[in-house]
Amino acid sequence: MELEASNKGTGTEENTERLCGRRNLAVVLAAGSGSRMHAAVKKQFMCINGKPMFWYSLRAFERCALIDDILLVTAAEDCAQVQAQLAADGGFSKIRAVIPGGKERYDSVANALLFLDDSAASCYESVLIHDSARPMLTQQLILDALDGAKRYDACVAGVPVKDTIKVLDADNYVEDTPDRSRLWAMQTPQAFSLPLVRGAYAALRREEEAGTLRGGITDDAMVVETYAGHPVKIIMGDYRNIKVTTPEDTALAELYLSEERSAGH
Ligand code: CTP
Ligand code: MG
Repeated sequence: MELEASNKGTGTEENTERLCGRRNLAVVLAAGSGSRMHAAVKKQFMCINGKPMFWYSLRAFERCALIDDILLVTAAEDCAQVQAQLAADGGFSKIRAVIPGGKERYDSVANALLFLDDSAASCYESVLIHDSARPMLTQQLILDALDGAKRYDACVAGVPVKDTIKVLDADNYVEDTPDRSRLWAMQTPQAFSLPLVRGAYAALRREEEAGTLRGGITDDAMVVETYAGHPVKIIMGDYRNIKVTTPEDTALAELYLSEERSAGH
C-alpha cells in the first residue's frame, strides 16, 4: 500500500482547497504488545463482537468526512497480514499505508509522522493520533478533536478523574493527595497541527539517537510540551472511550460496542 498523500484532485473547489495543506490525517496505533491483557493474541487483534479491536477505530475515521487519510501503525511482523486483512475487508479507502511501529508508543508515533516526507506532510493541516486500544471512538470525539487542533494547535481529549488519586512512596505509603478537581485522565484522540507535532517528534528522535532521551513519555501531549514548548489544551472526552488494557475491560468494550450497534451507528 503506497502513500498517496496528494490524491487525485477532481478540480472541484473543495478538492482544490484540500490539496493546499488543508487535509486532515489520522494515525491509528496498533503496534503494542498488549502485555497487561495476558491474552494469546495482541489485544488490538482480539475479536470484539466479530471484528478485531483495531477495526473499530479505522471504521470511525473512515466514516468521518473531515478525515482524508489514515496511517495505520502495526508491529513490523504484523504489517503484511494486516494489509491482507484490510484488502479482504474492502471497506477502507482512506488507509494510505501500514507502517512498522517501534519499541515504545512514542517510537510508533514518530515512525508514522516521519514516514511522511516534507512534501507529503505539507498536504496536512491537522493530525489526530489515536490508540486502537480505544475502539469506542465516536464521530463527536473526532470532530471535537479536529476543532481543538485548529483552535489551539495542540489539544487532547480527557475526562475528570472520578477516584481520589494518591502519590505513593517506595514503600507504598501515601506521599501526597493531589487536588482531585484538577486531575484529568488523558484519552485519545490527541490532536495537533501537523508541523508542530512533527517538529516535536523530530526533536525527540534526535535526543533518542543521541542517547539523551529521558524516559516516561506516555502520550503525545508530553512530547509537544517538552520538545515544542507548546501549551496543550484539554477538551472533554468521553467516559465510554476506555482504553482496553486488562481482561476486565474487554467485557465493557463488548457491551458498549453492542449498545452502539443496536442504536444503529
Ligand atoms: N502502541 C504502539 N506501539 C508501541 C506501544 C503501544 O503502537 N510500541 C499502541 C498500542 O497498540 C495501543 C496504544 O499504543 O493501541 C496504547 O498503548 P497501551 O494501551 O499501553 O497498549 P500496549 O502497549 O499494547 O499494552 P501494554 O502496555 O499492556 O503492553
Ligand atoms: Mg503500553
